[in-house]
Amino acid sequence: MATIVQNGILVTASDTFQADLKINNGKISMISNHINGEKGDTIINAANKYVLPGLIDPHTHLALNGTLDDFETGTKAAASGGVTTIINFTDPDNSQTFLEDLMEWKNKAKKSLIDYGFHSIINKCNSDVLKEISRLPEEGVTSIKLFTAYKENMVNDDEIYLLMKAAKKEGMVTNVHAENGRIIDQLIEEALDRKNTKAIYHAYTRPASLEAEATARVLRIAEITEAPTYIVHISSEEALTEFKRAKERGVNAFGETCPQYLVLDENYLKKEDKEAVKYICSPPLRTKRDQEALWDKIKLGAISTIGSDHASHPYVDGKEKGVNNFTKAPNGLPGIESTLQLLYHYGVYEGRITLPKLVEITSQNPAKIFGLYPRKGSLNIGSDGDIVIFDPNKSSVITKETQKQGTEYNVYEGMEVQGDIDFVLSRGEVIVMDKQIVGKTGRGKYLYRNRFCDWPREEVGTE
Ligand code: URP
Ligand code: ZN
Ligand code: ZN
Repeated sequence: MATIVQNGILVTASDTFQADLKINNGKISMISNHINGEKGDTIINAANKYVLPGLIDPHTHLALNGTLDDFETGTKAAASGGVTTIINFTDPDNSQTFLEDLMEWKNKAKKSLIDYGFHSIINKCNSDVLKEISRLPEEGVTSIKLFTAYKENMVNDDEIYLLMKAAKKEGMVTNVHAENGRIIDQLIEEALDRKNTKAIYHAYTRPASLEAEATARVLRIAEITEAPTYIVHISSEEALTEFKRAKERGVNAFGETCPQYLVLDENYLKKEDKEAVKYICSPPLRTKRDQEALWDKIKLGAISTIGSDHASHPYVDGKEKGVNNFTKAPNGLPGIESTLQLLYHYGVYEGRITLPKLVEITSQNPAKIFGLYPRKGSLNIGSDGDIVIFDPNKSSVITKETQKQGTEYNVYEGMEVQGDIDFVLSRGEVIVMDKQIVGKTGRGKYLYRNRFCDWPREEVGTE
């Protein structure tokens, strides 16, 4: 029994065209002008609708300590927003090895509705850790993540150098959260001494210059090690300038931004503290000028991917702790289910990017960079039948009242967006229909990702 999507407008990273599409045994088996169904086939009429490859969210924090979304609720939320694959971060517990940590995370993810993989967070460096890194690819993990901020996780320059070299040797990508954490910690101390405790001081103590400094430094180390390096959640024009400089020198660097940096700005942090604390994330929300610089770099290709950085901290007993002391609010925003709606509305509908560009940055590029292409990230024959059917003529309002994610709030509350999702298919199976989750949790598969393959740069949209 096959699934056939008829009359839709197929969108790839390079093209849009009218065609029917057939999925057999979970894989796309035919794309043609007209495909007839047989008895028992599922037929979906997608007339006047876009047929997109499912989104790959390469930056999620499901099941993070203290957050509300585990792999069951979080992947339901993801799927309802058109995400059919996630790459989640582990969270090292210093009592176990990174491999043990990975096994624990694989267990947590068994309830997933959609397919998933992991990036391993590495927060220390010694000879045992360097050996362990070489074992991760056989477990399907072909990327590590390092931090230059957050006391509990940050690594020094010499450690970054050694870890990048080890990752490069194994054909892995090094993700980096780039902010100068040591200077940020000084600025925070000074702000608290002066009783500058309101949420906006979260942004003032993490200025763009310190994101730019860490980005430049990390990419200099990447230049020396020749390690493929992926800078997560780039938020500012200053960091983009350093990123672009590195790329012009030939550094093998990829850049990600997040919807929150494209559509929210620091004014949200200037609201009354009880509202503003919801918006605390790192790097912080920036200015409208930074937003436009990010859109511009997406259009030009310097930014390759979009990650939601979903972290579903509760308000009660979570974010609210930051009222009158911004340092007490947990960092990170929920938003796994809104990426497509936001990018379509503020990107495509408002004329900042094209529809193929949206597919490139939300699906094809993350698949290529993180060893999933061509199984994921495209509408090729033989690729997994991960499909979103999107109606550009509908509109909807993003609100906590209808969201699937677990938080009591939605940082995009009240935004009216053009376009809406009708169906989501994962490996040919309808998992979302008419806003209802119809797929069973636990059906998601663990993805053994390939080692990094140096796709020609123009193919991952680098400038
Ligand atoms: O503020 C954020 N982004 N929290 C999630 C963890 C991280 O830094 O990616
Ligand atoms: Zn981060
Ligand atoms: Zn993150």
